[in-house]
Amino acid sequence: MLRLAHLSDVHLGPLPDISYRELASKRITGYINWQRNRKANLHDHVIGLILDDIKAQAPDHIAVTGDLVNLALDAEVEFARQWLELVGPGDDVSVVPGNHDAYVPGALDKACRAWGDWMWGDGMDRPAHRGAFPYMRVRGNAALIGVSSARATAPFMASGYFGSTQARRLGRMLDEAKTKGLCRVIMIHHPPVRGAAPQHKRLFGIGRFKKVMEKHGAELVLHGHTHLPSLYWLDGRDGDVPVVGVAAAGQAVGGSKPAAQFNLIEIDGEPNAWTLNLQRRGLVADSDRIQHIVAQSLDAAERPQVQKLIASRSHAK
Ligand SMILES: [Fe+2]
Ligand SMILES: [Fe+2]
Repeated sequence: MLRLAHLSDVHLGPLPDISYRELASKRITGYINWQRNRKANLHDHVIGLILDDIKAQAPDHIAVTGDLVNLALDAEVEFARQWLELVGPGDDVSVVPGNHDAYVPGALDKACRAWGDWMWGDGMDRPAHRGAFPYMRVRGNAALIGVSSARATAPFMASGYFGSTQARRLGRMLDEAKTKGLCRVIMIHHPPVRGAAPQHKRLFGIGRFKKVMEKHGAELVLHGHTHLPSLYWLDGRDGDVPVVGVAAAGQAVGGSKPAAQFNLIEIDGEPNAWTLNLQRRGLVADSDRIQHIVAQSLDAAERPQVQKLIASRSHAK
C-alpha cells in the first residue's frame, strides 16, 4: 500500500520587498490582488499547521500541485525552495508548477531550476526545465506523473495550457506504467475538467486531456488551482478516473473559500483492481487543530450517475 498526501496552492507569503522595475509587468495587478485578498486570507501559520499534520500522518510520499508562490519574484522562488526542504527530500516529494509559479515570462524557468530536486523524473537528465514535463516517478505500487499546465498569461488571466507534446508523452508514460502494473496517478495544477474553473482561469487543452484518458486510461488525477475540495470524474480507457481537488494549504478560516485542507490517499490492491481511499483533513472553525473532515472511496461505483450522463452527452457531440 502507498499512502500519498496531496496539498496545493501554498501561496507562500509575505511578499518580499518589490522594486518598481519588478512591478512594471503583469505583477502590478497581482500585487494589488495580493494586498486585497491573499494577504488577508492566506497565512503561513496555517501552512505550518497543515505541514505538521502531514508529517504526523507519515505518508510515503507527498504531492504538491502548484502555486507555491504569488508573483514568482526571485526571492519568493528561493523562499519556496527552502519551504520544500522542510516538506521533505526531493525523492519523497513531487511538485508540479501552477500559474502563479509562472507569473511572468521567464519565471517558470527559474522555478524549475530552483525546485528541480522535487520535479525530476526517474532517470531524467538534470536539470529540470519547463520542456521536460511530464515526468514520471515510480514509488511503491504507483507511477506518479507530473504534468505542467503552468504558463505566463496576460494580466487578469490565470489560465493553463496542456499541449500536444505533453499529451503524447503522457500517453506513452501511462502505457508504460500500465505495462509495469502500476497505479497511475497524474498531478496537474489546473483541473482538466470542463466547468471546474471560471473562464479566465480555465485550462486550454481539456479536450486533449480527455482524449488521453480515453485512449490510455489512468487511475487518479490530483489538481489544485480552484482552492476547492472537489471531486470530478472523467471517462477512461480502463474505467472511470477520479479527479480530486483540494482547498488551498494556507487558507485561513472565514475566507470566501474553504479553510486549509490536504488529502491523504491510500492506494492498495493490484493491477486492474486498485482500491483508492481518500481522507480529507483540514482546519475547521474555532479550532487551531487539523482534523479529519471526510472519508471517501474513489471507487467508480461512487461516481454520480448524473455526472456520467452529462459526460456521455458531451462525448456524443
Ligand atoms: Fe492558487
Ligand atoms: Fe492557480
